[in-house]
Amino acid sequence: MTPLIDTHKRQIRYMRISITDRCNFRCRYCMPSGGIEWLPHEEIMRYEEYLRILKISIPRGVEKVRITGGEPLVRKGLAEFIEAVKGIDGLKELSLTTNGFLLPLHAADLKRAGLDRVNISLDTLDRDKFSYITRVNAFDQVMEGIMTALEYEFSPVKINVVAIRGFNDDEINAFAALTVNSPVEVRFIELMPMGCASRYADREIISSNEIMRIIEDRHGTMIPVEYTQGPARVFRIEGSRGKIGIIGAMSEHSFCSTCNRIRITAEGSLRPCLFCDDHIDLLTPMRQGISEAELEKLIEEGVMLKQRSHGMCIGQHIIPNQGCSALMNTIGG
Ligand code: GTP
Ligand code: 5AD
Ligand code: SF4
Repeated sequence: MTPLIDTHKRQIRYMRISITDRCNFRCRYCMPSGGIEWLPHEEIMRYEEYLRILKISIPRGVEKVRITGGEPLVRKGLAEFIEAVKGIDGLKELSLTTNGFLLPLHAADLKRAGLDRVNISLDTLDRDKFSYITRVNAFDQVMEGIMTALEYEFSPVKINVVAIRGFNDDEINAFAALTVNSPVEVRFIELMPMGCASRYADREIISSNEIMRIIEDRHGTMIPVEYTQGPARVFRIEGSRGKIGIIGAMSEHSFCSTCNRIRITAEGSLRPCLFCDDHIDLLTPMRQGISEAELEKLIEEGVMLKQRSHGMCIGQHIIPNQGCSALMNTIGG
């Protein structure tokens, strides 16, 4: 096996694939209230096109695949796709990032198809605030989605909380407390100035240091529990069943040096970094009939575009306009 290694000697082991730009929510930091103009169907990758890319990348050392969106559960045929991905030799873990709304309906099929785990977005524990931030009255159904994920033993179940000053800063400890008696991993994510958040994110970001301070003032010093190659630093409140992850997406740069991820967007581009506009179009050449060897060369070229780190922030000082222009819903985070 010849691993995929970028120009900074990082080996690519993790591929995030966005299977749709569509979403049934309209989170204020992600999308405008009226939604956006969705990609036309023919411009979205077909499942067999993702499979072509995965059948080349997994034998080259990609061992983790995460399915994202938009909201991936709105796309038909996902369970069959998951089954096909799980059938590729060499894959170690297949996971999904979802807003949780359709989990009560689909969890059984996803489990049967072989999905290993889920990350679920939930920015507030208050029903009215939930309707405000997502613009959908769906708090109860998302809570049921989280319970269903736990029942089906997707493990671990991670809950993603985008920390927003003036919106949920007063709930950080309530979220942290969920980990005391439940095996969930609650992750606090710094708001990133992308898409709809790009104009005001600098005012509303709560830094990972501040989040740590708020939790430790209440629960005592947290214990570091694992090293991840990703952006999350993971801790545990002493004696708790679950874990707390802190994703310093903006204020920390250290994870870039070990970043092992690439992304495939819903429109079939390989993006080597979340924050960078560099990308390589795989879909057009695939539809023009390139061979597997030529596709493999393009994937290698995409990996080589991966920059040393993202240039969105210097220390704690955020430069909002240097991010990529694409919306989060086509890249999938
Ligand atoms: P795990 O595989 O469970 O570690 O998932 P994850 O945390 O990578 O994925 P998830 O889709 O749950 O994303 C959580 C948050 O991390 C989202 O806000 C993402 O946008 C952010 N994130 C994911 N990958 C990166 C990255 O490469 N760089 C930065 N800065 N943030 C990222
Ligand atoms: N900043 C931080 N996190 C974001 N997400 C979407 N947009 C942003 C943003 N601007 C999160 C979602 C989801 C994950 C994939 O990315 O809430 O949990
Ligand atoms: Fe949908 Fe996720 Fe964007 Fe919210 S953040 S609108 S759930 S894609």
